[in-house]
Amino acid sequence: MQPVWLSALLLVWCVVSPAASAQQAERRNFEPSSDPQLFGAGDRSAAPDGGLYSFDNLSVAQDPRAYRPDVGALDFVYHNHDEMTRYLRATTARYPNLTALYSIGKSAQGRDLWVLVVSASPYEHMLGKPDVKYIGNIHGNEAVGRELLLHLIQYLVSSYGSDPYIKWLLDNTRIHILPSLNPDGYAASKEGTCDGGQGRYNSRGFDLNRNFPDYFKQNNKRAQPETEAVKDWISKIQFVLSGSLHGGALVVSYPYDNTPNAIFHSYLSQPSLTPDDDVFKHLSLTYANNHGKMSRGVACKTASPSFENGITNGAAWYPLTGGMQDFNYVWHGCMEVTLEVSCCKFPPAYELRKYWDDNQMSMIKFLAEAHRGVQGFIMDPTGNPVERAQLKIKGRDIGFTTTKYGEFWRILLPGVYKLEVYADGYVPKDVDFMIVEQHPTLLNVTLQPSKVAEHGVVLTPPNPDLNRPLASAPSFGPVASSDDTRDNTGTNSNRDRLVFTS
Ligand SMILES: *[C@@H]1O[C@H](CO)[C@@H](O)[C@H](O)[C@H]1NC(C)=O
Ligand SMILES: *[C@@H]1O[C@H](CO)[C@@H](O)[C@H](O)[C@H]1NC(C)=O
Ligand SMILES: *[C@@H]1O[C@H](CO)[C@@H](O)[C@H](O)[C@H]1NC(C)=O
Ligand SMILES: [Zn+2]
Repeated sequence: MQPVWLSALLLVWCVVSPAASAQQAERRNFEPSSDPQLFGAGDRSAAPDGGLYSFDNLSVAQDPRAYRPDVGALDFVYHNHDEMTRYLRATTARYPNLTALYSIGKSAQGRDLWVLVVSASPYEHMLGKPDVKYIGNIHGNEAVGRELLLHLIQYLVSSYGSDPYIKWLLDNTRIHILPSLNPDGYAASKEGTCDGGQGRYNSRGFDLNRNFPDYFKQNNKRAQPETEAVKDWISKIQFVLSGSLHGGALVVSYPYDNTPNAIFHSYLSQPSLTPDDDVFKHLSLTYANNHGKMSRGVACKTASPSFENGITNGAAWYPLTGGMQDFNYVWHGCMEVTLEVSCCKFPPAYELRKYWDDNQMSMIKFLAEAHRGVQGFIMDPTGNPVERAQLKIKGRDIGFTTTKYGEFWRILLPGVYKLEVYADGYVPKDVDFMIVEQHPTLLNVTLQPSKVAEHGVVLTPPNPDLNRPLASAPSFGPVASSDDTRDNTGTNSNRDRLVFTS
């Protein structure tokens, strides 16, 4: 509770100008806008990435073995690591204004973990506009997603000039594509192998999708270079939305993957729902409904489960500890889902075109969902950004933070919400806002500095509006170790290996 005089000082900006609304409405309808102020290619007021990663500037002209792909002519074949590297370099050479290549680190055997950014502003973050990502091939023998991502790159760069929707998407989004998080596992896998675990793990035998810190249970697995690279990456760039591509099933699986239940309960595979379950279901359905066949929910084999509408909660399918999507959501406020895109993990190359046809629309429409919900800036009274302000949507007990430019994004479905804002040195604040279907809500919030008494004691009320202090919420660090539901046995993951391998 705040004294009346203090509340009177609070300045709320919750401005959605009619003009902006009209423009935004077009945006949601996936029509391009002619207003260069809002939608001009490459927002040049953009803030730089700050040299987080060094971009790969190797010119293919100096590399005689380089691919020189014709527009739209990426073959439907599998590309090994060297071929993939050459393709990515050739693409950045051919589309220097739309792409940038960087590596987030190396695999255990020293292969680069390449990320290609596709955007009208590939080298710089666009102020106020979301960064999104796709990660493929985290399980090395699940190879379809890796090739789908190469084709997605090809499709995006070659459509920019002719397809207004793709132009709108790239003008307003930075799309980071990591085609292979497990290049070592891929190198140990075999085309034509639909099942089994050969190549699934990294070269040291670790399942990378069991290798992240876990919200519910202690994860004792030794951190691997590939997952360390991802943790570092998503701590530097705030991603709003993400998809991780897998194979071995045909379904979108959404958080949580793990469950607070005791070990014997977790065998029953009950749902483990997040406070953003409505949003996760919507994102999953966006993918499944735009897919050639996923939403039919047909089982891959008679012995496999079938999924209603082609989506499932992760834990309801089977619980697992140390998965990447729960980590993205809980630690970084990034809405990540798991995209299971093929019943056969490593089908023959001649089937790749069919997989691309089935997934192309899904992959695009899913990313566009980053433009749904609320977005804005948290500022001080002089208009300076408030970095790492801690935010929550009331009733959704998972926090997220502002970027160093004070930006925030949250995907939400139409409705009425309250944003809770807390930042060190400022008076906490609640702001009511509304989400409509047609366009994102722009919400700027100004925080008042807390009064400092003469002897220097800060008089900020101790975050009175929040059920629990954001600073100690699990979203900003590991779960407290007093949790008696912990599974220290590792049995879960062994079970996953034996029974479930998608
Ligand atoms: C919100 O703040 C940003 C950054 O200061 C500014 O560019 C933008 O115009 C503001 N938007 C509204 C709707 O006030
Ligand atoms: C090399 O990368 C930097 C970003 O680090 C970029 O600004 C520059 O334009 C690139 N140079 C070339 C020749 O592509
Ligand atoms: C890239 O953009 C610059 C500046 O707008 C332009 O001069 C150049 O022709 C573009 N290059 C390509 C390959 O489109
Ligand atoms: Zn998998």
